[in-house]
Amino acid sequence: MRESSPSKPPQRLFIPGPTDVLPDVLEAQTAPMIGHRSTEFEALYAKCEEQLQRLFFTQSRVYILASSGTGLQEAAIRNCVGGRVISFVNGAFSQRWYDVATGCGKEAIRVDVPWCTAVKPAQVAEALEAALADGPVDAITVVHNETSTGVISPVGEIAAQVRAISPETLVLVDAVSSFSGVAIPFDEWGLDVCLTSSQKALAVPPGLAFAAVSDRALARAESVQGRGWYFDFLLLEKYLKRSTTPATPAISLVRALSVQLDHIFQEGLEARFARHRTLQERTHAWAQERGFDLMAEEGYRSPTVTAIENSRGLDIPDLNRYLAQQEMQISNGYGPYKGKAFRIGHMGEVQVADLERLFQAMDAYLEQAG
Ligand SMILES: Cc1ncc(COP(=O)(O)O)c(C=O)c1O
Repeated sequence: MRESSPSKPPQRLFIPGPTDVLPDVLEAQTAPMIGHRSTEFEALYAKCEEQLQRLFFTQSRVYILASSGTGLQEAAIRNCVGGRVISFVNGAFSQRWYDVATGCGKEAIRVDVPWCTAVKPAQVAEALEAALADGPVDAITVVHNETSTGVISPVGEIAAQVRAISPETLVLVDAVSSFSGVAIPFDEWGLDVCLTSSQKALAVPPGLAFAAVSDRALARAESVQGRGWYFDFLLLEKYLKRSTTPATPAISLVRALSVQLDHIFQEGLEARFARHRTLQERTHAWAQERGFDLMAEEGYRSPTVTAIENSRGLDIPDLNRYLAQQEMQISNGYGPYKGKAFRIGHMGEVQVADLERLFQAMDAYLEQAG
C-alpha cells in the first residue's frame, strides 16, 4: 500500500466530500487557457474519457460535464424516463433523486426503505412487480452509497433482479460517494446510467460530473420528449464522438482531472480499492473499541464513509473546533441524525497515517471530555 508521499500534505478533510486534492492536481488548474475546439483540448478530453471508461469497467461512453452530481441525476431522469420511475429512498440523497424526478414532472413511485439499511434486491423485485401491474416502468433510481448514513447497497444484484423481471426497465445508479473507492463494474452489472461527482473519492475539485451510459439508455433517450438541451444524451453523444462537449467545458477542471486520473492508475485500481477497505476497517475498529455503534446495518457498510452513532453524547461542533486547531474536520450526522451521529469520510487520497493522526486527536478530545 502506498503510504503518505512527500508530495501529499496531511489530510485536512475527513468529511464525505469535498475531499482534499493533491497539490499537483490543484496546480494543474492554473495552466493557461486553451480553446475548447482545439486539438489540444480534444486530446485531453479523449485521454480522460479512456481512463474513465477503465474506471467504470465499461466499453460504453462516459459523459464528462461541468455540473455537480445532482445535474446528472436530473440528466438521467430527463433522458431515460418518459412514463414512470420507481425511486428507492433509504437516505437523503436517494430522497433527492426522487425530488429531482418529481421536479422534472415525472410520475415517480417512491419506495421508502428504512434509513441505515440497504436497498435489497427482494424489495426491488416486490416494488417493481407491484408497479408493473399498472403498466410499464421506465426506470428505477437507487443510490449505491448513501452518504447520509454510510450504507452501501448491492446495485449489481439489484440490476440483475430488475433485468430478470422487466428487461425494458433501466437501472439508474448514483455512485457519487463510492466511485473509485470501490469497484463498480458497469458492464458486468448491466447498469444503464451510473453517475458520480468529481469532489468525492475521485479527489478532484468540485464542478465536474461523470455518467457512464449504456446503449439501452441512449436508445431510450431517442423516444423521450423534454430532454432539455444541456443534458441531452443525444447531443452529448454527438459531441463526444469528436472528444468534446456541446457547450464550453470546464477546461481547468478537466486538466485537474487528467492529473488525478494518472495518480489513480499509478496507484492501481486494486490497490486503491484495498486501501479504502483498510481505511474502513480501521475506522470501524476505532469506533467500536471506544464503545460507539455504527449506523449502517452490518454487511452493507460503506468503504468510503462511516456514520457513527454518537452514543457518548459528544458535542460534535465542539469536537470539530478542537480538531480545527490541528487543521482537521469531520462531519456531523446528516439531517435527522445531526448531533445523534457523526460521519468520518475516508475517501480519495486519505492514507492510513492520516487516519491515525485523526484518531490520535479524537482520542485526546475524548480523554479531555471525560
Ligand atoms: C450519494 C450522493 N448523491 C448525490 C450527491 C449530490 O452531489 P453534488 O453535490 O455533486 O450535486 C451527494 C453529495 O454529497 C451524494 O453524497
